[in-house]
Amino acid sequence: MPTRAFFSTLIYSARLQAAGLPRFNDDLAGACALVRENDLAGRRWSEKNYRGGYTSYASLPRLHRMSSVFATLERKLLVHVCRFARLLDLDLRGRKVFMTDCWVNIMPEGASHSLHLHPMSFVSGTYYVRTPPGCAQLKFEDPRLDRFMAAPPRRANARACNRQFVAYPAKAGHLTLFESWLRHQVSTNQTEQERISISFNYNWS
Ligand code: NI
Repeated sequence: MPTRAFFSTLIYSARLQAAGLPRFNDDLAGACALVRENDLAGRRWSEKNYRGGYTSYASLPRLHRMSSVFATLERKLLVHVCRFARLLDLDLRGRKVFMTDCWVNIMPEGASHSLHLHPMSFVSGTYYVRTPPGCAQLKFEDPRLDRFMAAPPRRANARACNRQFVAYPAKAGHLTLFESWLRHQVSTNQTEQERISISFNYNWS
């Protein structure tokens, strides 16, 4: 092949663990409901900034240090983050990778989360706790979108590697990891049931 791909953007998606997920997700869903119930400041913040939903992002962003079930999730996620870092060829010898933030997102029908990235970290992601069938996907944007200038539009059947947007279905028990600079959004949840996820950031030292 005369043409090779460079400057790749990797997105990692995997099941958290082989077995025992329904019970673990029940525990997490209970913990998420409790966080929302007790977080008046977060509910108020969400009213203004998280249209129709609840997030503990601004009020309780370090849940892995507050509750054992989130701390367990932290331990399980680290394995995947280290695997992703290896796939990115990051040199972490003698360095430490650690979770800095971990917060809950509860999206009832009609809630959405507009385009954003995750500052102050190098790997971010989401773990799905409750995902009613047909609930909103996680949509990523080509990080070079503002540089295409005079490029013609892409074909509707463009290969995945050449598309300017890619959507990952939200699937309970699965996690999605990406480099924190990669912009993404969650479109409107059109199912009647709540979509529950836990988002997180990792940094290194
Ligand atoms: Ni995000």
